[in-house]
Amino acid sequence: MFARITGVGSFLPGQPVSNNDLALRGIETNDEWIVSRTGIKARHLAEPGQTSSELALEASHRALAAAGIDASELDLIILATSTPDFIFPSTACLLQGKLGNQGATAFDIQAVCSGFVYALTMAEKFIRSGSHKKALVVGAEVFSRILDWNDRGTCVLFGDGAGAVVLEASDKPGILATSLHADGAHHGILSVPGNVCGGAVTGDPFLRMDGKAVFKFAVRVLAEVAEECCTLAGISPAEVDWLIPHQANIRIIEATAKKMGLPMDKVIVTVDQHGNTSAASVPLALDVAVRDGRIQPGQKIMLEGVGGGFTWGAVLLEF
Ligand code: UT7
Repeated sequence: MFARITGVGSFLPGQPVSNNDLALRGIETNDEWIVSRTGIKARHLAEPGQTSSELALEASHRALAAAGIDASELDLIILATSTPDFIFPSTACLLQGKLGNQGATAFDIQAVCSGFVYALTMAEKFIRSGSHKKALVVGAEVFSRILDWNDRGTCVLFGDGAGAVVLEASDKPGILATSLHADGAHHGILSVPGNVCGGAVTGDPFLRMDGKAVFKFAVRVLAEVAEECCTLAGISPAEVDWLIPHQANIRIIEATAKKMGLPMDKVIVTVDQHGNTSAASVPLALDVAVRDGRIQPGQKIMLEGVGGGFTWGAVLLEF
């Protein structure tokens, strides 16, 4: 029994916001700095009040339509986010209510930018165990809400969006190998070190990052975990048709591809148009490449995430 992706969908709120638009809004930055350091040209930002579950709903409708199934048929909903609508209930349950599904197992995963890869791995294990048959796996974020818009070193890097896949039990190959890791010793290099206590914010409610430390860590672990996943599946990295790494920075993506010996024309890149959408970045990129026809049935796809925690992981699948 395999767990196989049968439908993909995504949603981006509003119109693209360019680097120049950010400069016009008063952020002391410029297009040349952002493009040369990160490859980001634009991102989408949610409207005030637009939540992760709302973005997730649009992406989920598209994934369900692509899979040709109704939300009532789902028996598992896993949603990855670090920007949930509420402290509780989970955004997965809010999405479930909006979709009109009753009774499916539903919960959130919190693994920051590795969230989708974690969630997909979790769903695969439910399906392979035989307990569940049809899963909806979503990454949805409104990172614009946790950015300090006075910190130009971080606020230009992120965007909002959602991506979703339907994962079904199948006798045809789907997910071939998965690998997840974390190292909490590095929790301080990327975090939102605040909370709500007694009705007030305690600590710092904004994203804080040691960019250089994150950069080095990401390049090392993304190449390592991709190779580990290939070894588990018994293939060489050269047999991967498409690499879809977390979309944080084009220089991280290029360095990972180089370490794996993959040419950039085998790498799906959306960071230029989406910025870093955290848990949504991998399913957003997957959806773009499926819909524009680059990804074809039977091809081997490597999905990779890395983010706060620190967390990292990869999923190798046959599409
Ligand atoms: O999911 C994981 C998420 N995180 C990442 O992927 C981030 C990984 N790290 C990076 O991508 C890079 O470290 C950054 C793009 C964040 C920063 O690049 P850097 O080469 O490490 O730059 P820096 O932070 O050392 O800053 C260099 C200069 C500084 O000016 P001075 O001190 O040299 O005068 C900054 O003040 O660039 C300045 N700067 C900016 N200038 C224009 C920082 N942010 C900006 C900005 N626009 N937005």
